[in-house]
Amino acid sequence: MKAIITGITGQDGSYLAEFLLKKNYDVYGLYRRSSVDTFERINHIKDKVNLITADLTDQNSLNETIKDIGPDEIYNLAAQSFVPVSWTQPALTANVTAVGALRILEAVRHINPKIKVYQASSSEMFGKVQEIPQTEKTPFYPRSPYGVSKVFAFWIMKNYRESYNMFTTNGILFNHESPRRGLQFVTRKITNTAAKIKLGLQKELLLGNLDAKRDWGYAPDYVEAMWLMMQHKIPEDFVVATNEVHSVREFCEHAFSHLGLNYEDYVKLDKKFLRPAEVDQLIGDYGKAEKVLGWKPRVTFKELVKIMVDADLEKLKKEQ
Ligand code: NAP
Ligand code: GDD
Repeated sequence: MKAIITGITGQDGSYLAEFLLKKNYDVYGLYRRSSVDTFERINHIKDKVNLITADLTDQNSLNETIKDIGPDEIYNLAAQSFVPVSWTQPALTANVTAVGALRILEAVRHINPKIKVYQASSSEMFGKVQEIPQTEKTPFYPRSPYGVSKVFAFWIMKNYRESYNMFTTNGILFNHESPRRGLQFVTRKITNTAAKIKLGLQKELLLGNLDAKRDWGYAPDYVEAMWLMMQHKIPEDFVVATNEVHSVREFCEHAFSHLGLNYEDYVKLDKKFLRPAEVDQLIGDYGKAEKVLGWKPRVTFKELVKIMVDADLEKLKKEQ
């Protein structure tokens, strides 16, 4: 089997590449050209995957790559994925995160409509939630240009499924984290800074809304769900979550206490991290994924926090 992963240099791309290699896939990773090396997360598997430069904003590069490789499956994970940047760069976010998904579909439709496409859809589409917990049937109410872009990508996948009989599947993934999470996202920001504080490298942690609640899972568990969706006989959409909710404050409490510290001594509010519109609470019901795909999360919230804090502490000690 041949698979293309867009966004292979990202958190999920790196775990999915490892997962597919273990299943004996030929893995082709698309990455965008950069003046610096962006392979930190995939250095350990670089000689086992094929890396090709292409950009989701450039139709021709996608067409040529898909034509040359002739994949069985495409996992579209690339996106402008950081919610705050979607307010400062809304047009770029729409171009990459929304229209980028359409460009993949257009390439597949013209080259070989039998290629299966996975779309990295997001719980951010639920935004101002209309139902608790959220399921595949919950109406969307996105609260950021990022969320709106993901809603477009979700519906265009569904539209091409119904219009052209293509195999397109949306994984509606709730927040999932790991030691490879980008440093700007709140979980990694907390674990990395807490570890720095423990080692005397930093004095405080500046955060925005501590009361926001998320359904946080472990990224390696979630890439397995992506693959299972692609092996399912019919293309459908699935919520992937833990069905547990915790606040940013709770995440801080656990991370600092794992290091023998009290978060209240270090965490300070910085208004610049507040958002123009907030998603207050997300919690996903993964019942359909469990029933149809036999998938369920393995790592608990407490284990996740511990994994991330320990990894950051270890990394920083090595750097020292
Ligand atoms: P990530 O770490 O931010 O990775 C995003 C990837 O997209 C990176 O490889 C990035 O390349 C690439 N990219 C950005 N713009 C591009 C462009 N114009 N052309 C080609 N590639 C481009 O995100 P992640 O956490 O792995 O998430 C993977 C996907 O799942 C994203 O679509 C995200 O929106 C979605 N999602 C994530 C979560 C979550 O909790 N992690 C939940 C639901 C959905 P560089 O390395 O060069 O920046
Ligand atoms: N990033 C960040 N930085 N978030 C903060 C901070 C801070 O200093 N302080 C509080 N928060 C709050 C945010 O306001 C938000 O409510 C919550 O922490 C989580 O923020 P992020 O970790 O940035 O993730 P996100 O939920 O906005 O988006 C992530 O999950 C989505 C799935 O629901 C991203 O991975 C998206 O790409 C993904 O689709």
